[in-house]
Amino acid sequence: MDLGLSGRSVLVTGASSGVGLATAAALLAEGANVAACARDKARLDVALAELPRAEKARVVTAACDVLDAESVDQFVADAAAELGGIDGVVNNAGRSLLARLAETTDEQWRAELELKIFSVLHVVRAAVPRLRRSPAASVVNVNAILARQPEPKLAATSAARAALLNLSTTLASELAPEGIRVNSVCLGLIDTGQWRRRYETSGSPLRFEEWSAELAADRGIPLGRLGTADEVAYAVLSLLSPRASYITGSSLDVGGGVARYV
Ligand SMILES: NC(=O)c1ccc[n+]([C@@H]2O[C@H](COP(=O)([O-])OP(=O)(O)OC[C@H]3O[C@@H](n4cnc5c(N)ncnc54)[C@H](OP(=O)(O)O)[C@@H]3O)[C@@H](O)[C@H]2O)c1
Repeated sequence: MDLGLSGRSVLVTGASSGVGLATAAALLAEGANVAACARDKARLDVALAELPRAEKARVVTAACDVLDAESVDQFVADAAAELGGIDGVVNNAGRSLLARLAETTDEQWRAELELKIFSVLHVVRAAVPRLRRSPAASVVNVNAILARQPEPKLAATSAARAALLNLSTTLASELAPEGIRVNSVCLGLIDTGQWRRRYETSGSPLRFEEWSAELAADRGIPLGRLGTADEVAYAVLSLLSPRASYITGSSLDVGGGVARYV
């Protein structure tokens, strides 16, 4: 099926690794133009240079910390000028904080809430004037199943994820009259830089595949494994696609069945 993304321009934050990189790769393969950012531009440029792309697909990269509103404004303005507009936004940049309630400092609480909320608000505020002009405007917020199913080991991240899911619902209803759809993908455990870093610091004698299979069993993931970034990218593209034109304010779990809620 043609997703209708060819020739459209999509902004992806945190595109140098993991889910963001897989999303950029999938968009380029579909013939979309990609404006990508991360804080480390050298790593971003190397990652994107290696991606195969459809003939006319263009790439713009920028060093941008999504917590810095001025830098985000500049990134969005440059991307829109270079690509001739913006049709989609994937708010993906971020990380999680592995800490239980008793171990989490006030400073860490503030940092988690700031990251989850402002990483999305800054980009959406800057992009909305451009998205309004698109005939198929779509925003996808990369969130986590933790938003509805908190994990004691990720106390602040779970609460901040819930706040973002709540904000996504408000954004969807506020922006619907302007023809801008807003949806979320809620991730379970996905094999990306985050988990590779945790494996490396764990000092485990197991190979990553064995370590991650144990992790999947420990977390009770019915499909018995971590997901891949490509599996998330497919879900993101399906929500970005103009074929999803009647879907807004929704969230799609990509978690191998780990969610226990109905
Ligand atoms: N992997 C999972 O199991 C999982 C589960 C639930 C939710 N998530 C969420 O999914 C998203 C992607 O995660 P991932 O696993 O793909 O992570 P990743 O491989 O660590 O990639 C994170 C990306 O975000 C960028 N980034 C981080 N902070 C940024 C900032 N302040 N401004 C701009 N860019 C920033 C990083 O580049 P720089 O460091 O150069 O900025 C990198 O490109 C995150 O929001 C994460 O919390 C992941």
